[in-house]
This record gives sequence, C-alpha cells and structure tokens, in this order.
Amino acid sequence: MKRKTHMLATDLDGTLVGDQEALRQLFVHYDDLPYETALVYVTGRHLASAVSLMEAEDLPQPDILITDVGTAIYRTDRLEEDEEWRRRMKADWQPNRIIEEASAFPALLRQDLPDHRRVSFTIPTNDRSVNEFGKVLNQKAIPHQMIISSNRDVDILPRKSGKGNALTYVIDKYADQDVEVLIAGDSGNDIDMLTLGYPAVIVGNAQPELLAIASHPDLFRAREHCAGGILEAWHYFYA
Ligand code: GLC
Ligand code: MG
Repeated sequence: MKRKTHMLATDLDGTLVGDQEALRQLFVHYDDLPYETALVYVTGRHLASAVSLMEAEDLPQPDILITDVGTAIYRTDRLEEDEEWRRRMKADWQPNRIIEEASAFPALLRQDLPDHRRVSFTIPTNDRSVNEFGKVLNQKAIPHQMIISSNRDVDILPRKSGKGNALTYVIDKYADQDVEVLIAGDSGNDIDMLTLGYPAVIVGNAQPELLAIASHPDLFRAREHCAGGILEAWHYFYA
C-alpha cells in the first residue's frame, strides 16, 4: 500500500453501496487509471456484517477495512486486526458503565453487537432523551464520544476513536507519505473524516445532518448519488 499514489477512503452503506451501475462504472474508472489507488473501507458495521455486505455486493477487497465507526482496523490481506489501535481503544473505555446508565432511557434500544468495542442504540425519530443520556454521561465523567447518524443510530465510542481518527492513523501508518486521498461519506458518522482537511465528497443522497457542515474548498458536494458521487468528485479533484 505504501507504493500506491492515491487512496479512496469511503463509507459503505449509502456511499459506495446503493447504486450498482454507478459502482460498476467507478471501478471500471479505477482499472483504467495509469496509477494505483489504495482502497480503504470505513464503515459503521461490525466485521461480520461488513464482510457479508462486501460479498453480497461483490465489492473489491480493500487494502484496509475500518469497522465499528473507527473502533477497529483490519489489514485485509489476512484480516488481521491492528493491535496497536485495539490497545488505544481500550484506554479509558468503560462500556459497562455506559450500558448501565442507558438502562434509565427506555427509548434507547441497544443494538445487538458481537462485542463491546462500542455501545450503539437505535432511537425513534426526533427522540430527545438521547440528549439527556449524553448529559448524564458527561456529568458522571464517563469518557466517551457520542455520534448520531441518520436520525436513528446512536453510537457511543471510546474518546479517541471515530472514523476520522482511525483514518488518520491508517494514513500515517500504512500509506505513502504523499498519498493523494479522497474521502467519501453520506451520514453523521462520516463527519469527522470528511472534515479532516483532505479532499472529500458528500454524495448527492447524503443525510440532512451533512448539510450543516461548513463549506471548505476541499469539500465537494456531489450531485450524483452513491458511487456516482464518488466518481464525480474523483474527476473534480484528480481527473
Ligand atoms: C451502521 C452500523 C450501526 C451503526 C450505524 C451508525 O448502520 O451497522 O451499528 O450504529 O452504522 O454508525
Ligand atoms: Mg453511510
């Protein structure tokens, strides 16, 4: 991956995945380019769920797979987890206290996840109790960050995780130091990576929470949806 001059770091659901014909055209474009592009998938899904989506959609194998909203990083040559990142995620992380505090908020439905790397919930549209829950976590000084996506998913994550921090770590550790990056996303859990300062694209079908991000010369708002928006942005930034 250190030899690849370019990198596409993209969310899966609603960004890379969602329009099969556009997806096909995007990868035809990458195959035709005179340079190699590293592929990094950055998803909210857990590993098994991400792998099953990749199989169902026949996605190319990425160089790196970041799952669980940036709380786990896998090198996909052997699906080996990055142990250093795993160690960092454990610092300060107290999932049992978070679960206990959440039990006072019946509107928060715990997502069924295979482990406690993160604690995630689904909430009814426009539920307000999630704000109260956040206040309790802060008052009790339980280290965390809260990310709300699509007015539905609430992820409580270790403080130093998130897609943006995980992607920064991956670029520093695994990529060429001059790599030309494009970051793509469509919902709340993508905001911290879309605003890292690298060229980035908000696809045309993005969730309303992305309308609020401040404009920036390196932040491109695509007209096209899903993979079509990524291709539109690739032409805009790199040809
Ligand atoms: C994906 C995950 C879900 C998470 C959401 C937002 O849908 O499957 O667990 O809460 O992304 O990050
Ligand atoms: Mg998405």
